[in-house]
Amino acid sequence: MIDFIDKLKKNSHVIDQFLDNHLPSGDNLNSKLFKAMRYSSINSGKKIRAYLVVESGKFLSIINNQKFSKSEYDELVAVASAIEAIHTYSLIHDDLPAMDNSSTRRGKPSSHIKFDTHTAILAGDALLSWAFQIIADCSLIRDPRKRSEICYVLAKAIGPYGMVGGQQADMDLNTKSSLGLEQIEWIQNNKTGALISSCSHVASILLNVNYKQKEKLINYASNVGLAFQIADDLLDKEGDEIVMGKPIMQDDKNETPNFVTILGREKAAQKALEVSKAAISIIQNFQHGTENLVSLAKYTVNRNY
Ligand code: IPE
Ligand code: IPE
Ligand code: MG
Ligand code: MG
Ligand code: MG
Repeated sequence: MIDFIDKLKKNSHVIDQFLDNHLPSGDNLNSKLFKAMRYSSINSGKKIRAYLVVESGKFLSIINNQKFSKSEYDELVAVASAIEAIHTYSLIHDDLPAMDNSSTRRGKPSSHIKFDTHTAILAGDALLSWAFQIIADCSLIRDPRKRSEICYVLAKAIGPYGMVGGQQADMDLNTKSSLGLEQIEWIQNNKTGALISSCSHVASILLNVNYKQKEKLINYASNVGLAFQIADDLLDKEGDEIVMGKPIMQDDKNETPNFVTILGREKAAQKALEVSKAAISIIQNFQHGTENLVSLAKYTVNRNY
């Protein structure tokens, strides 16, 4: 696990450098927007989505006995950074008073507390649009077919057919809505799983792999995504606020329905473990290069923040 955390941190550092070099900064009339974009995204967050993009790419090149080139790595880093910007936007908006109303994030005041509500809304919007600017930039991703395919996959994963669709249901429904497990799983797969599985999907596009490999890897990532959200729901109940850098008991406060509220802690923890094991067994069907993706699936349910 220590070895894994070390690898995760090294990758986060690379992503932070990319964000620092490419995110807008400066002292114009809108400098508060730039400060807010940078405040929430650089040097904070676990950046597991970026890790999944880069490690999916490395894994695919190993199983296809290809040499992993510097230009492939750079393209993975650019897309991984864009995905982290999208994820940061989703968290800034998730914390707003009109949504979960959470006042801390990543160990510091949430964007709307540090700045103000309109800046938090606009910083989220700006990070989202900036992410697509990066992916569509021909100096960062050379192949136009790959640029357009990645834009399509990501837009689908985070819009009405994915993350935003899931967030709408998460907000509208509550613990009294008598939801079944299938509906809970639907919400979680959309609000969290869709972006996480797109990480392996975009890596498959960049590495140009065959359909079978792509489908297996996406299936792995989709299980990681579901396990990740169940673990988040468990941490919301029993985690340490200081370690996590965000308030706990938010789901009780907002009456957010999830596996913990329906099944109770023990069964929800069991479900998270089962789903993480399903991810591991998919990846272990491959002979080589599985170590980092297996560690990520284990970490997903064994983390304390
Ligand atoms: C939190 O995501 C929101 C969920 C989808 C569960 P992370 O736990 O990845 O948050 P950061 O990026 O590390 O802050
Ligand atoms: C957030 O889920 C999911 C998205 C932002 C898409 P949560 O509301 O459970 O995330 P935290 O617990 O605030 O990080
Ligand atoms: Mg929420
Ligand atoms: Mg929240
Ligand atoms: Mg949560």
